[in-house]
Amino acid sequence: MLQGKKILLGVSGSIAAYKAATIVRLLVKEGADVKVVMTPSACDFITPLTLATLSKHEVPVTISDNQSWNNHVMLGRWADVMLIAPASANTLSKMANGACDNLLMATYLSATCPVLFAPAMDEDMWHHPATRNNISKLLSYGHQQLPVEKGELASGLFGEGRMAEPENIVKYLHEHFSNHSAQSIDQQQVDKTTLPLKGKKALVTAGPTQEPLDPVRYISNHSSGKMGIAIADALATAGADVTLVLGPTGLSAGNPAVNTIRVVTAEDMFNSSAAHFTQADVIVMAAAVADYRPKHVADIKMKKGEGDALTLELEKTKDILRTLGATRTDKQVLVGFSLETNNEKEYALKKLREKHLDLVVMNSLNDKGAGFNHDTNKVTLFDKKGDARDLPLKSKLEVAQDIVTAIVDILHYNSVPLVV
Ligand code: CTP
Repeated sequence: MLQGKKILLGVSGSIAAYKAATIVRLLVKEGADVKVVMTPSACDFITPLTLATLSKHEVPVTISDNQSWNNHVMLGRWADVMLIAPASANTLSKMANGACDNLLMATYLSATCPVLFAPAMDEDMWHHPATRNNISKLLSYGHQQLPVEKGELASGLFGEGRMAEPENIVKYLHEHFSNHSAQSIDQQQVDKTTLPLKGKKALVTAGPTQEPLDPVRYISNHSSGKMGIAIADALATAGADVTLVLGPTGLSAGNPAVNTIRVVTAEDMFNSSAAHFTQADVIVMAAAVADYRPKHVADIKMKKGEGDALTLELEKTKDILRTLGATRTDKQVLVGFSLETNNEKEYALKKLREKHLDLVVMNSLNDKGAGFNHDTNKVTLFDKKGDARDLPLKSKLEVAQDIVTAIVDILHYNSVPLVV
């Protein structure tokens, strides 16, 4: 699986850097071509000579040595994947903010390939809001975070934050490359010239958002992201180039052609959606975005007070659909959701009008099998003319296909078929 793959390993300063030797050894054993770049502080934990010997390539540490320039741009372009392991809290922060004060950072900023990172730090650093923010920024750039492991830490404490074991890191690389080859098989097998959304770009939001209160608590909702993910998959199957902005959920898109950007907060979701909104021909906002977030986020865990009650001050988040919908063009197709418990039709039509939608997908929590976490859904589609299409209870995959059919009709004929 890794035979001939070009893997660029970035090693930053953490006690886990000593495991970089095992990572290189395992990758080379599988036939990968591995090049390593290190930060100067990583050299306190493992020598460049060790990694150069194992990888059979020189290991640059500084932007220039002996009056010659280390070409970080070519390194970044050479790789099929860049893996940063261990990624220390400091390096994560620099990556999130684009700081460029060492060779590893210059290479990372030049990399045109997918980036995976394996964080390594003490538990308190891992849970610090600054680290959480940096991770969500990196996920919003489309990078993939390898899960940290629980165990004994350098501090002597036991907890979360250990770098994934080298064997597990290699497994993630296998997964990464098998998704990519599935993507190319998918692209070879399907003749996209006949697909109804060929050449169209789509943006989908899905899942819940989490709004932190302190490093261990957040406000969220029951959304699983199933409906929005099914729509992203159905749009990709119809030939669209899909970007899925996905809130925190354990689920993933099934169609490997979907480009998923994982986000955590409503603010992150807004920023990632705004970055893709103008270029999109089709926008479906299915996410259950938190309408409010805590006004103050505590840096440290909030302790119980003496009183029996706690009052939280909340502030409104941006309404992503309303804000971006106000900038839409006539050429774009904009679809929103309306989940209601009462006066369903009235509220759905209000959202259709006020959020500048072409189509609103209404579902009611009063319908059995509809709403959060089910594999089925029962929806009514309302278009701009107020025409309604009442669909029976179906699997979310079938509902997604019906929504995509309605979108294709709007794009091509500027109307939704009226079937009741
Ligand atoms: N939505 C959004 N950003 C928000 C809130 C909602 O993009 N901050 C989108 C959802 O993805 C959905 C639609 O708006 O497509 C409807 O969401 P809902 O929260 O039901 O709408 P609201 O206008 O907030 O109405 P309500 O007062 O009923 O909550």
